[in-house]
Amino acid sequence: MVSSLDGFIAKKDGNVSWMRSTDKYDKGITLTDEYISEFLKSIDCYVMGSKTYQHALELGWPYGDIPVFVLTNKNLITDKKNVKFYSGELEKIVNDKLKPNFKNIWMVGGSILTKEFIRKGLADKIVTTIMPVILGNGTLFFDYIGQEHLLHLEDVLAFDDGMVELCYEIKRE
Ligand SMILES: NC(=O)c1ccc[n+]([C@@H]2O[C@H](COP(=O)([O-])OP(=O)(O)OC[C@H]3O[C@@H](n4cnc5c(N)ncnc54)[C@H](OP(=O)(O)O)[C@@H]3O)[C@@H](O)[C@H]2O)c1
Repeated sequence: MVSSLDGFIAKKDGNVSWMRSTDKYDKGITLTDEYISEFLKSIDCYVMGSKTYQHALELGWPYGDIPVFVLTNKNLITDKKNVKFYSGELEKIVNDKLKPNFKNIWMVGGSILTKEFIRKGLADKIVTTIMPVILGNGTLFFDYIGQEHLLHLEDVLAFDDGMVELCYEIKRE
């Protein structure tokens, strides 16, 4: 997820303008269309909580025709052929529906669902992009996850607009 330096992934009013940086960092690399396109091509399916899904619909659907799995306990409907709604045990959904069919499964967010995946040992990696901003309020990425997890830093990328991408592997005991 994209986060502010103080750990927020969403503002209280839902405004996302803070996710576009106007900062300049001379030593950073440029985020090119090719980089974004290669990155998106590597994703086989998206998983998200219903709040993230609703917000994505409001902002403009960015997931194209890639399969999207939305976790919800509500009876949501959609005319999008690539969107499926699931509820129930995350382990079962991951092991029965996702793992047999997809390799690179990208958990989009938000905070509630991401924490559930991490708590249950269902996430392999955490990729987070820190924006050069302090938001001061909103939805925190990690508030009281309630467990300790050792991480292995796999990669760090600093971009010329001040964004820093951190890629961690979640170590298994
Ligand atoms: N900065 C970023 O990169 C980033 C990324 C993603 C999202 N966001 C933002 O984060 C905010 C939403 O985050 P959030 O933490 O409030 O919510 P969320 O994780 O997106 O969604 C939570 C909802 O998912 C459903 N859910 C979670 N676990 C479930 C399970 N095991 N079975 C069935 N349903 C389950 C429930 O929906 P029901 O109530 O429908 O049952 C729950 O209320 C939005 O503003 C979004 O734009 C930011």
